Amino acid sequence: MSSQANQSACIPPLSFSSKATRTREQPINALIAQAMADPELINFAAGLVDSHTLPVDPCREMAQTILSDNVRGRAALQYETTIGLPELRRAALRHVEALDSKSATELGLTPADFVITNGSQQSLYIIGDVLVDPGDIVIAANPSYFVYTGTLQSLGAKVMTVPMDENGMDVEAVDRLLARIEREGKLDRVRFVYCTSYFDNPTGLTLSLDRRPRLLEIVKKYSKSHRILILEDAAYRELRYDGPALPSIKSFDPTNEFTAIACTFSKPFAPGIKTGYSAVPKDLMRAILDQKGNHDFGSSSLCQHIAMEAMRGGQYAEQVENLKAGYSKKLRTMLDSLDRCMPKADGLHWTHPTGGLYVWLTLPSSIDTSRQGMFAAAVEAGVLYVPGVYCFQPDDAGHVPTNHLRLCFGNVPAEKVEPGIEKLAQVVRNSLRGTGPSPVTSEEHGRGARATQSA
Ligand SMILES: Cc1ncc(COP(=O)(O)O)c(C=O)c1O
Repeated sequence: MSSQANQSACIPPLSFSSKATRTREQPINALIAQAMADPELINFAAGLVDSHTLPVDPCREMAQTILSDNVRGRAALQYETTIGLPELRRAALRHVEALDSKSATELGLTPADFVITNGSQQSLYIIGDVLVDPGDIVIAANPSYFVYTGTLQSLGAKVMTVPMDENGMDVEAVDRLLARIEREGKLDRVRFVYCTSYFDNPTGLTLSLDRRPRLLEIVKKYSKSHRILILEDAAYRELRYDGPALPSIKSFDPTNEFTAIACTFSKPFAPGIKTGYSAVPKDLMRAILDQKGNHDFGSSSLCQHIAMEAMRGGQYAEQVENLKAGYSKKLRTMLDSLDRCMPKADGLHWTHPTGGLYVWLTLPSSIDTSRQGMFAAAVEAGVLYVPGVYCFQPDDAGHVPTNHLRLCFGNVPAEKVEPGIEKLAQVVRNSLRGTGPSPVTSEEHGRGARATQSA
């Protein structure tokens, strides 16, 4: 053996941080990558927006406008401040005022309360990072947006859950959970309640109007030694195809103390500019900016200029309307196809969202939708979904329900939605005739509890 080979055999391993060790790989990436090797596959798994509707022409023109002016072009190619482009933060505030039909004064917000981030994910991450020490408690719905519960797990949070119903997160269950935590003497460990308030990922469900101020009332009631925050994730807010436009939870917090709202340009405009904006309480902003200073000391300036130009010039509003027209048709087709194709069986039902990109199916508990169960048969049949098991936190015994699945119609061509549901229905029919469940352990679930590129 050469001395070089001898040396490399002795190289000791790296010593990873406890955070790196807590951060788990997402097997769903591999599942999707493997399955996508088949171009015929109908992919209801990837949480992608529709590639064909992305605003290529408007973005080309806006980039030209920005870069054809030397002064502006230089600004767009220079570093921006950590908090973000002032004009974009002002535009974001005007936008939130319009969505909530309230003035900035009524909302208790100024442009200084807005931070621009690399998508809303960075804001969610940093807010978790500045509030959570390992062992601290975060309350979330079960199921929840699995990328973020993965982030929380990586930060060492103990994620405690409450159920969802057709009105979104069960906020009375949040009240009961906080009361229990207080009885157990652990209220000082509760940091925030994470709530996707519009067209949730993965269920498509929306928090009802009456639950919004009520959730705020609940966190205020338990904010004793410190404030318990609501982290409102409004990623899908503007993809509303039907039903009333609901005010944000944030809009019920006129002193801007108990709620942070995370918004994004990804879903209503283009994920490629990876730009989001959040309105947060003042003391939280200080901590966020200190962390963001360490992350990147400011998001992409050029992307911020494009986002601002799109809001100012109307391209953003136009894109939202285009997307709503396309997505609402696909959602209708998906729901109609489910009605038409799915077998009638006790315990088989699905959500009926009025916006967003997802439909959530519950199958009889005898059917296991995970990769040990129906998943392989679905891939074989040419259709892909996200097994629901990835979206749940384990119960006290370490088990997660195995009989759910998430469907995303975002990037599936309109004409493929119905054939995809037909295939899936056939797989469900076969499963109903066949096998029973195979329990999923928390260890296996944990491996699935983290991000996928196409969340
Ligand atoms: C519920 C939810 N929140 C936040 C995000 C983050 O998206 P982005 O960082 O692109 O804004 C996503 C992405 O899929 C999401 O589904």
